[in-house]
Amino acid sequence: MNPVTLQQPRRILFGNGSFEQTPAEVLQTGGSRVFIVTTSFLLPQAETLAENLRKLDLETRIFSDIETEPDIALFKRVLESGREFGFDTVVGLGGGSVLDVAKLVAAFREDDQSITDTFGIGLLRGRGASLICIPTTSGTGSEVSPNAILLDETDQLKKGVVSPFLVPDAAVIDPLLTVTLPPPITAATGLDAMVHCMEAYANLHAHPAVDLYALEGMRQIAPNLVRAVRDGSDLEARGALSLGSLYGGLCLGPVNTAAVHALSYPLGGEFHVPHGVSNTLLLPHVFRFNLDAAPDRYAEIARTIGVSDRGSAIETGRAGIDRLVDLSVACELPQQLREVGVKDTDLEHLATESMKVTRLLKNNPKEMKVEDAEAIFRAAW
Ligand SMILES: [Fe+2]
Repeated sequence: MNPVTLQQPRRILFGNGSFEQTPAEVLQTGGSRVFIVTTSFLLPQAETLAENLRKLDLETRIFSDIETEPDIALFKRVLESGREFGFDTVVGLGGGSVLDVAKLVAAFREDDQSITDTFGIGLLRGRGASLICIPTTSGTGSEVSPNAILLDETDQLKKGVVSPFLVPDAAVIDPLLTVTLPPPITAATGLDAMVHCMEAYANLHAHPAVDLYALEGMRQIAPNLVRAVRDGSDLEARGALSLGSLYGGLCLGPVNTAAVHALSYPLGGEFHVPHGVSNTLLLPHVFRFNLDAAPDRYAEIARTIGVSDRGSAIETGRAGIDRLVDLSVACELPQQLREVGVKDTDLEHLATESMKVTRLLKNNPKEMKVEDAEAIFRAAW
């Protein structure tokens, strides 16, 4: 059996109401100056948290101006605000983008390393502050992963920093924080979490120690996604999505994603398509391309999301892909790239750009060349 390293937060708090335990978690870190990174939408929750921290004699500052797709300039602004305050602890409260910025700010507290020198795997020198991440969507799994994604505005490409130093000290996952998420965001982030599980399971570096998270994540999300999209207050469905998202996140460090995510990045960087939406648009086409390289894996994915056995693994896998398309249609997500502002003249360039995401393409169960990527973009268009 191949070696694998599971790096996870020291503490993972999960369940309804666990957000209220955050001040106790901050005390555990031993810090006294807490920088809360969030969005304006979540300011009321951030202010409540800050108030509770001040009752414990901790100093706080809130930065609440994170856009949905943060770039390098925004990261630098947040870091500057944090340094001016003088933090020793960072609390990220928000969706994946917010958490990614919070993670990088914690890492760069004292380090003058250039952010662009850290894009890639294992290039970060350390982390200068304690870090607690609290997701308010159920999708990215950033609260437990070693990854952070930023838009590099110089070439409009989303780039990843992957480092063990980005795994938070604690993750606080409270499904109650997700009940107000609008249906399109519930749908897109939920499918993103599902893709994390699927790409980790049908992956050149798949591992039994990670497969269990991947399969259980799919099992949680598949029957509950449409329920949560149609009724955001369905706490059972919200809980299942949060759990599935956590499991998907736990797949990212040891195995990570593959071609769906690689092809998705230029759509996010250049066309600002939300991450979960770009994944959803690409996934049936990438999976059809991959199917003959890992038929048993795709058949197991299909069975896990509720598809009955067909005549062969290939047929079962194909039925599973159809089921995923049905799910995204039921969630009322866009079904074609042309619906999100992409023109047919963009497809060749998108394929070329996606080939740069080698850190994920190397995981794909089937080798993908630029002409394959272009054919996939064309099919998705
Ligand atoms: Fe993702």
